[in-house]
Amino acid sequence: MQLTIETPRLLLRPNTLNDWDIGIQVLSDPEVMRYVGAPLSPEDVRKHMPTFIRRSAGGAIGIWIAEHRATGEKIGDGILLPLPIEADDTEWELMGGDEMPDRDIEVGYLLKPSAWGHGYASEICAALIDFGFENTNLEEIVAVTDPDNGASRRVLIKCGLINHGMRRAYGGETTDFRISRAAWERNQS
Ligand SMILES: CC(C)(COP(=O)(O)OP(=O)(O)OC[C@H]1O[C@@H](n2cnc3c(N)ncnc32)[C@H](O)[C@@H]1OP(=O)(O)O)[C@@H](O)C(=O)NCCC(=O)NCCS
Repeated sequence: MQLTIETPRLLLRPNTLNDWDIGIQVLSDPEVMRYVGAPLSPEDVRKHMPTFIRRSAGGAIGIWIAEHRATGEKIGDGILLPLPIEADDTEWELMGGDEMPDRDIEVGYLLKPSAWGHGYASEICAALIDFGFENTNLEEIVAVTDPDNGASRRVLIKCGLINHGMRRAYGGETTDFRISRAAWERNQS
């Protein structure tokens, strides 16, 4: 399976141990984490890198780093990961085997603030949804957001996800976005 994904402006490639720099830029920034959870200390990001590079389903799910194709600058990340319901973070213990975890699989993205407002999150989200449906037998890809995270909600709608109201995830109430394989196939034509 080809895990590197090219979009018009970005290269998405699997997270590596060397990507602690962009990890710190997003996960330790209170502005980025405003709707996502408590920021991690830079030391914690470094400590957790061996976990953050775990992949499952033959590599088809995990974290991708997004970098500008033109300059190589890292701008953030995109994910396909099992959605936690009562846990407040990804259940990393489910990741690392060859199987697809028996959970909803969520698409997500975190960009450093200097990259906001250029359509990059939409480019990442659309590419990961295509990748997920093309490389796995998932029947649905889900996403959750804080109801106040207007930019993220807009990204999901632009990428064809439908808002189904509210649901539990990450140990709280979140907006429930989904796209089915059938809807994704319809959107291709
Ligand atoms: C949310 C985030 C990923 C958006 O990234 P981005 O690259 O700026 O997103 P895009 O440019 O692709 O699209 C943003 C859309 O939201 C719109 N938007 C921006 N701020 C908005 C707001 N407060 N309310 C509603 N819409 C908003 C933009 O106008 C754009 O829509 P348009 O293309 O129709 O004009 C980025 O701000 C981010 O990383 N935030 C912190 C992490 C985060 O919250 N991640 C999502 C977790 S669910």
